[in-house]
Amino acid sequence: MLVDRHGRKINYLRLAVTDRCNLRCFYCMPEEGLDWLSRSELMTYEEMLHISSVLLKMGIDKIRITGGEPFVRKDFMSFLARLSKLQGLQQLALTTNGVLTAPFVPELKKIGLHSVNLSLDTLDQNRFFAITRRDELPNVLNTLEAVLQHGLEVKINAVVMEGKNTEDILPLVALTKDASVSVRFIEEMPFNGGAGHAANLSWDHWRILEVIKGKYPNIRKVADPPHSTSYNYQIPGHKGSVGIIAAYTRSFCGTCNRIRLTPQGELRTCLYGSSILNVKDLMRSGLPEQQLQEALAGAISQKEEDGWAAEKNSNLHTLHASMATIGG
Ligand code: GTP
Ligand code: 5AD
Ligand code: SF4
Repeated sequence: MLVDRHGRKINYLRLAVTDRCNLRCFYCMPEEGLDWLSRSELMTYEEMLHISSVLLKMGIDKIRITGGEPFVRKDFMSFLARLSKLQGLQQLALTTNGVLTAPFVPELKKIGLHSVNLSLDTLDQNRFFAITRRDELPNVLNTLEAVLQHGLEVKINAVVMEGKNTEDILPLVALTKDASVSVRFIEEMPFNGGAGHAANLSWDHWRILEVIKGKYPNIRKVADPPHSTSYNYQIPGHKGSVGIIAAYTRSFCGTCNRIRLTPQGELRTCLYGSSILNVKDLMRSGLPEQQLQEALAGAISQKEEDGWAAEKNSNLHTLHASMATIGG
């Protein structure tokens, strides 16, 4: 079992397989993209399988694959199929923008993927283009349809932004009427890769909930699963649920069970933290597994007590990398 020095049990790895993406969401990266990592800087799939199997032996039992967009990396589906077979893995999950995902959904189901988190900020084609700078809404909607059809658990992630998609809040909530989907609204966070725009925090979780209550006054709070990032609600008679991720106005640090690996193999014990260990370099130096485990356990035990508070008390918020290089 992995436990940090504050007594938190760590069982959840977020593994980012690439920093590249086929969208250019303005809250995540500039129009020209990022200064992408070269192939040799990235962990290979073999290295990712190795480090995952080591962490699974140490107490990790849930892995969420993130990016960038995982499906832009070559042969991603075969990597995922191999990862799904690792011993000790109880939950395999994926965060995707849905542009390339639809044709792979039957296979995702077959390998036992537990859940898909789909980024979808708007249902309107023009607003989709304004936010992502790409015209891909129909492909994303195909993915949504496919995951629902195949009975995979699906959560929609919508970042709420003034002047961009606030008119989409109610149409997105309406999706929960007939579909077994969790629609989650996210406060914008300052991880934009120097996109030249500061996160606009005018839409915090209170304001988002007010808008939803305006149309659905009988919406009720439901229990939040352990370690949930969202506060969850349900509208009586609706099949799905609504969540609000107060990503920037509240702290989830007290119950945090996560660690992250960036595409270049940096271990991060907090979204707001910096890299504390490069596991790719350790693996490439031929470090025996026992020593690798010791290095990992030592670094994880040092996990920040409250990275969110440290962030709030600093003036670093304009300096953060893109979510795509950290893995969300
Ligand atoms: P599951 O609980 O596994 O469904 O994951 P999730 O909801 O955290 O994952 P997802 O990749 O869908 O991310 C949703 C939003 O939560 C993104 O905007 C993330 O950046 C944010 N988020 C994820 N982890 C953390 C965290 O540790 N702290 C904060 N403040 N936000 C986070
Ligand atoms: N603020 C909030 N959420 C963000 N995401 C990416 N960048 C930001 C940001 N600056 C979200 C994406 C995706 C999830 C992994 O992170 O919408 O759904
Ligand atoms: Fe790509 Fe996700 Fe960043 Fe959008 S938020 S540019 S989909 S990595």
